[in-house]
Order: sequence, then C-alpha cells, then structure tokens
Amino acid sequence: MSSHSTVSALDDRPPGVREVPTIRRRDGIGGVLAFRDDQLGFLGAGIDRYGDIFRFRPLGIPIVLVNHPDHIRHILVENGENYDKDAVLFRVVRPVLRQGLIANADMELWRRQRRMMAPHFTPRAVTNFARNMTDEAEQMLRRWQPREGEILDVTDEIGQLALRIVNRSLFSAEVGASAQAFEQAFGAANTILGAFFRFPFPPLNVPTRRNRKLHRAIDQMDTFVSTFVRARLAGDTPPGENPDLLTLLLHSVDEEDGKGMDLEQLHHEVLNICIGAYETTTNTLSWAFYLLARHPEVAERLQEEVDTVLGDRTVPDFEDMARLPYTRMVIDETLRIYSPAYQFMRRARVEDTVGGYRIPAGTNLLINSYLLHRHPDFWPDPERFVPERFTPEAIADRPKHVYAPFGAGHRICVGKHFALTELVLVLATVARRYRLALPDATTEVVPEALITLHPKGGIHLRLEERR
Ligand code: HEM
Repeated sequence: MSSHSTVSALDDRPPGVREVPTIRRRDGIGGVLAFRDDQLGFLGAGIDRYGDIFRFRPLGIPIVLVNHPDHIRHILVENGENYDKDAVLFRVVRPVLRQGLIANADMELWRRQRRMMAPHFTPRAVTNFARNMTDEAEQMLRRWQPREGEILDVTDEIGQLALRIVNRSLFSAEVGASAQAFEQAFGAANTILGAFFRFPFPPLNVPTRRNRKLHRAIDQMDTFVSTFVRARLAGDTPPGENPDLLTLLLHSVDEEDGKGMDLEQLHHEVLNICIGAYETTTNTLSWAFYLLARHPEVAERLQEEVDTVLGDRTVPDFEDMARLPYTRMVIDETLRIYSPAYQFMRRARVEDTVGGYRIPAGTNLLINSYLLHRHPDFWPDPERFVPERFTPEAIADRPKHVYAPFGAGHRICVGKHFALTELVLVLATVARRYRLALPDATTEVVPEALITLHPKGGIHLRLEERR
C-alpha cells in the first residue's frame, strides 16, 4: 500500500479514500508530446498501466481520466449536479459553441434552455422530421444512379445529406452554396480545435495564421445561421405542414417565467444544433458503410431484414423503425467502435469521492467513450464488429453506463432520437438499393481524433446496385 492511503488526523475523509494515481515520466507512457501526437494511444497506455482512473498533466493542467461504468454513472447521473461543463475541453470549443446547450457551463441558463428545447426532440416530436430524412436519402440515391461502379467519397456524400436534413428540419430550406461553406468551416474548426485541445498554445486570441483561420471559420458558420434567422424574422413563411425547428424555437417559452429566448441565444442554439447534428451523424453513417463493406455477412443480414420489412416499397417510414431491430443493432455497434463524440469532460464543483478515489473541487474529468467502449471486462474482443452485442439480452447483461455514445444523465444528447431515427432510416434506404464495397481488399481507414472522431482521409467505397 502506498502512503496515499494514510489518513491524517486533520483529514475528515472516510478511511480508505485514495488519491488518484498520476502518470509519471518514468512510466514510459510519455508526456505532453505523446498526448499531442497520439491522444488515444497515450490514454490507452495509461489505462493499461493504471486501470480505470488516473491523472495526467498535459501542459501542467491536471486531468483525471475515468473509464469504469460505475464512475461514469456516478459523475453523469447519480451525482450529476456536482459536475458542470466549466472544464478544459468545453473552454476550448466555447469560442465556437458559445452559450448554446452543448458547452454551456451556466447551470441555470442551461436548465432553462434545455426545458424549452427538449420537447422538440422527443421521439414523438422527431416523427415530424422522419420524412425529411427519407426524402433527402431518396434524392441522394437518385444523384447516385448514373454513378454506378464509381468509387464514391462516402463521407462527403453523407456529409451533404446530413446537412440537407438539418437544413430542412431547422429552416425548411434547400441546401445552397452556403452549406458548402459551412461544411468547410466546420472541418477547419474541428481540426484546429482538436489540435489546440491536445496542445493549447499559442492562445486562440493571438493573431497567428491558424487562429485567423479559426475566426474566419466561426464567422462563416455564424453567417450561415444568421442568414436563415434574419429571413425568418423579416417575415418569410416556411413551406410545409409541420413547423420547422426554427419556428418551434422562436415560439418556445419557459414554463417557469413565460418568456422565450433572446435572439443571440437563439442564434447560439441553432448553431449548436447544426454542429451537433452534422458531423456526428455523417461520421456514424460513413463508418457503418465501411464496417458493412468489411463484413459482407452482416451486410447480407441487414439487406434481408430491410427487404422483408419494406416489401415493395423503396423507402422506410418512421413506423418501420421498430421493425428494423438488426439495422438498429448495426448502428449501435458502429457507435460503439467509432463513437463520434468520443470525449467529453466535466469539472467537479465541490470535492467528491469516485470509486473510492478523492476528486478535489475543480478537478477536470475526462470521459473517453472510444476507450470505454473497448473496456476488456465488458467487451470481449473489442475491435471486432459484432452487432449481436446489442440484442436485448446482451444489453441487459452489461452495466448500462459502459456504453455512452450519447453521454448520460441530465446532459445526455438532446438530439439522440433525431440522430437514431436518421441513422436507421438512411441506412435502410441505402441498403435497399445499393451495396457499398471496398475498392480493394487492403483498404483500411483509421480514426483521427479531432474534437470528433473523424475517418482519416474519408471513407471511399464502390457503388454497386443490388440485383
Ligand atoms: C450520432 C449522432 C450523435 C452523437 C454520437 C452525439 C453525441 C452527443 C454527446 C456524447 C453529447 C453529450 C456530451 C456531454 O455530456 O458532455 C451530446 C450533446 C448534445 N447533442 Fe448530440 N450527438 C449526436 C447527434 C446530435 C443531433 C442530431 C443533434 C441535434 C439535432 C445533437 C445536439 C446535441 C446538443 C444540443 C447537445 C447538448 C445537450 C445538453 O447539454 O443539454 N446531437 N451529443
């Protein structure tokens, strides 16, 4: 036993509370540079050496990684009120996301905003957006038709689709040139801020080339949002029988004070939805097509399910979701292996004990779902793509919080149902008609750990019509 477990007379902690072990240079895991160059490798080595909880100090800022479902349940759910988002990672992304839901560290403002927004994202509310998803997927397949046999940049194709779906659901708008500018701006911000989180120097307000590029990207994303918001305020009426999300948010009032959100807050929330919804779903579907191409036996089973459920139809509707359990299992397993929002953080507001370890007030805690989803105690052979891990029986056999692609507790992804609906319906629509095959047997794509987990170089697959 180390001296850490000794409790002094002045110490009112319960006996047995330990200090979180710290990675040291002599462990051979490396320091700042190892974290900067290979964040997942560095943290994985830390887990191999120390287990489910340890501290590391990139550039002197202490961060505690937690990687056990009990720790995650405690931090995100049971004692969630003690943990806010005033943590390093969210400070890094706040210049982009500002006071929107994703990175909001003000618990009161966040609670008010969430109360107003959550009703528009319930499974029932999402049924209104399902048609946008399948219509846009169908149009994408029409654009693919003359390209049979070609190698598609699947990530780019699905990125455009995801943005079209967000655009229609938020603004009832078709995608124009501004959407491409949004995609490029998002890509630039994701790369710059991903690197900045791993090595936060020089500060973002120093006018370096990189920082000027970041601020241009933020301006472009703001312009994208404000063009739609301004047009709506100027009196444009959205087409369609169902109100779009912008209309719903403009008319949302808080049940406690009867007031809505001001225009600046509305702008931030709309941008948060665009950002939250666009790259995460793009990456998930890109990885799903890649995994299916590598596992033809899974692709065949998926096609069988889709053919049986759809019969003569080419496109599923919302009611089919419940009849497509294998399609959903493929999505769940994809989200396990390549969890797109693979890291999030919390800051302890007051001192706490997690799994018997002391967590001082102010501690930055990191949850990395890429590593959690590979925890060897809960995921046998974790690198293998096995959708059967998500049968109801298999799910019931595991602790719930060893799987957290959407987070957990009160800050769980507000767009979870929207995302799952989009992922299942688009995957089924494509699988009904096409197979996406590896260009050659050696094709291998690795993940790139930016702010989100991106397929490095994008996913490129050959388009083959099913006969
Ligand atoms: C595969 C798709 C998606 C994944 C993997 C994902 C993942 C996540 C995760 C892990 C969080 C919680 C982060 C934390 O606890 O710190 C989150 C929050 C959030 N997501 Fe998603 N998301 C997805 C899709 C979407 C969509 C489609 C939308 C909007 C329509 C969205 C909007 C948001 C927002 C606004 C929050 C902040 C919620 C809050 O703190 O109240 N996300 N997402």
